[in-house]
Amino acid sequence: MSATQPTSFFLADDTATTALGAVLAKVLQVGDTVLLNGPIGAGKTHLARAFIQAKLGRLEDVPSPTFTLVQTYNADGLEVWHADLYRLSHPDEVLELGLDSAFETAICFVEWPDRLGDLVPDTALIITLSQQENGRKATFSGGREGLLSQIQVSHGDG
Ligand SMILES: Nc1ncnc2c1ncn2[C@@H]1O[C@H](COP(=O)(O)OP(=O)(O)O)[C@@H](O)[C@H]1O
Ligand SMILES: [Mg+2]
Repeated sequence: MSATQPTSFFLADDTATTALGAVLAKVLQVGDTVLLNGPIGAGKTHLARAFIQAKLGRLEDVPSPTFTLVQTYNADGLEVWHADLYRLSHPDEVLELGLDSAFETAICFVEWPDRLGDLVPDTALIITLSQQENGRKATFSGGREGLLSQIQVSHGDG
């Protein structure tokens, strides 16, 4: 078994995070799940929002699912699920929300994915955001075969 090497990018400001969301919108497919790790304020919601807006092709209002746990979006018949599991009390609630089946039928972004327990999809793409200088470091691992190599972020372009 060859483990995929984690890859990191520096995201200098929130515009760079938005650009990463647009890159993900080009490469993610139904069945892809993105686990967003990082502390409060790391930019998890910002990244999911940028993905959703790029995928929908419009500046749709994308509220944080902090209290609703899940928000769903429809882009020409393709479903996007945005979950924030911070307030989840038990992994069984993942089943009640229908998130486990959405992993198969939609593109899912999950904040606080540690709450998933053993319901984490095998091919989930893991993105960890952390503070670096005034920006963020994004570290990637996992994902379905070949996905990581499709995620290229250009550095320092305007
Ligand atoms: N690369 C970046 N550099 C600096 N600030 C960023 C970057 N990406 C996002 N931000 C900012 O960080 C904050 C993150 O908020 P949010 O996305 O709600 O965090 P989380 O969902 O992880 O709690 C937002 O104000 C956003 O503008
Ligand atoms: Mg958030």
